Amino acid sequence: MKKVILTGIKPTGVPHLGNYLGAIKPALEQANDTSFFFIADYHAINQTACAKTLRETTKQVACIWLACGLDPQKTVFYKQSDVPEIFELATILMGVTPKGLMDRAHAYKAAKDENRAVNMGLYTYPILMAADILIMNTAFVPVGQDQQQHVEIAADIAKAFNAVYGKTLVEPQFVIKRDVGTIMGLDGRKMSKSYNNVIPLFCDEAELLKSIKRIATDSTAPDAPKDRGHLIFQLYKHFTNTDLDNKIGWGDAKQKLFEAINAYIAPMREKYNYYMTNFSEVDKILSAGSTRARKVARETMDRVRKSIGVQ
Ligand code: TRP
Repeated sequence: MKKVILTGIKPTGVPHLGNYLGAIKPALEQANDTSFFFIADYHAINQTACAKTLRETTKQVACIWLACGLDPQKTVFYKQSDVPEIFELATILMGVTPKGLMDRAHAYKAAKDENRAVNMGLYTYPILMAADILIMNTAFVPVGQDQQQHVEIAADIAKAFNAVYGKTLVEPQFVIKRDVGTIMGLDGRKMSKSYNNVIPLFCDEAELLKSIKRIATDSTAPDAPKDRGHLIFQLYKHFTNTDLDNKIGWGDAKQKLFEAINAYIAPMREKYNYYMTNFSEVDKILSAGSTRARKVARETMDRVRKSIGVQ
């Protein structure tokens, strides 16, 4: 049997260039005919309490997956909320998950340390994520670095379940493209929605140029060599596979970077705009995907119910 590859995106904001290079592109490169890619909309409700926003970002994330090249004939593509078996499994997994495992999760610890309000959705986030992964018999989970611990927790939960009830669940592994590295944001910190330093993926050309012009630079003279690790050179390399001459003025470098990113993104942006204005097509794709996803989910739940003795 082919190994299942699965990954999800939480629709809490519109994916940016860092998400594309660090998570979406590597995941799509690994897609085969046993891959499951989904929109983790129930994960977003721990953070978003606005129906309109969630509906809109879910729509955008769906269109982004398709615009970036997800092939729904091959990959099973669905919304988490359309597969209720996931939530049943999450409840069952609660029973084999030690509380200490949740206490150690980075996202929860960060919220607690910063005195942010912690709801039970945030606290048990890794259990729902484990259910997403385990229900599809996932072997490999392509993720960005920040999600490594969550996948490790999912493997620990599968192990704990199998130890108690006998071998029922596949233990997953994370897959991280280390060579992508951390994509920096406009201000030199990691590109992240929470730092407000992102370059959007599918904004229009004018906005893309405006974002790129905002990239922080230093006072190195135009013809003096610049730091190759700078975001401008880093992004240029990612989008063209070639190095930009580093004895170029910052203004010219930004213009070259804009042209490179824009050329790469333009056909994808066009597809994105098409799907956003013809969303009924996307709805159909998602609905067909959820039928395929539920078939696998039901088979897993049959096994799990038998293992725990409710069937
Ligand atoms: N937690 C992931 C994120 O915030 C999204 C996610 C939810 C996910 N369920 C998943 C990723 C399962 C991989 C596998 O980016």
